[in-house]
Amino acid sequence: MATHAGGLSTGTAAVHITGLVRAFGERRVLDSLDLTIGPGEFVALIGRSGSGKSTLLRVLAGIDHGVTGFERLDAPENVSVVFQDARLLPWKRLLENVTLGLTGPGAHERGATALAEVGLAGRERAWPVELSGGEQQRVALARSLVREPELLLADEPFGALDALTRIRMHALLRQLCERHRPAVLLVTHDVDEAIALADRVVVLDAGRIAADQTISLPAPRAPGSPEYAALRADLLTRLGVDTDVAAPEVKEVEEA
Ligand SMILES: Nc1ncnc2c1ncn2[C@@H]1O[C@H](COP(=O)(O)OP(=O)(O)OP(=O)(O)O)[C@@H](O)[C@H]1O
Ligand SMILES: [Mg+2]
Repeated sequence: MATHAGGLSTGTAAVHITGLVRAFGERRVLDSLDLTIGPGEFVALIGRSGSGKSTLLRVLAGIDHGVTGFERLDAPENVSVVFQDARLLPWKRLLENVTLGLTGPGAHERGATALAEVGLAGRERAWPVELSGGEQQRVALARSLVREPELLLADEPFGALDALTRIRMHALLRQLCERHRPAVLLVTHDVDEAIALADRVVVLDAGRIAADQTISLPAPRAPGSPEYAALRADLLTRLGVDTDVAAPEVKEVEEA
């Protein structure tokens, strides 16, 4: 467990933040933010554009060296990050992309197993350019999980994919998380994605966690039940969306 600049130990939590401040100039993007994530817990982070979601992920990934202040800031050392674009190295084959930086015996076998887990068995020697966007994102997931991270940070990982591929990726991500059990912080703009995947949805607003909602709906969490509709409407309202316009019934008609 890494402690950024002298916080206390975390006890049982994977992430424990209190009083986090991140300012750019005079502007406090994160302002006395508190957030705890348990081991193996899947948390979705939503918030308006510019509310500081990516900033928070960068802090947790340990790649932001300009944090303004905190009372406690504990995150694991073994963190993996997945972005909206797969960020594969085009001059390396898939297996080399997955095992990049991986040391120790059996690295290649682990990489091949990870590729098989994301449905790309036998494609070890393919080049990134030969893959579709969804397939490239699956390689990015394999690259993240082969390191068995304690914490997986995902910043809109499915934002660039079409709706059908996104649904398939949701199922894959849930499956992989159940197998590898990392704590997850998933940034998404899609409230339905957040409800479908997460154990908890937190809303970032004005630099803090403005809402923290445990999702207790049984799986599969398809829109339609009154509980789902109420939860969705509540989260959309917190994002400043007019829920009369964005009701699930309307969405279903649009998709039919
Ligand atoms: N390096 C930086 N220098 C100055 N301002 C920054 C920097 N990085 C982020 N910001 C500002 O901090 C705010 C939050 O940015 P951030 O990227 O975290 O938002 P976000 O919630 O991820 O937004 P989006 O949903 O659009 O991705 C924005 O107003 C942004 O302009
Ligand atoms: Mg962002």
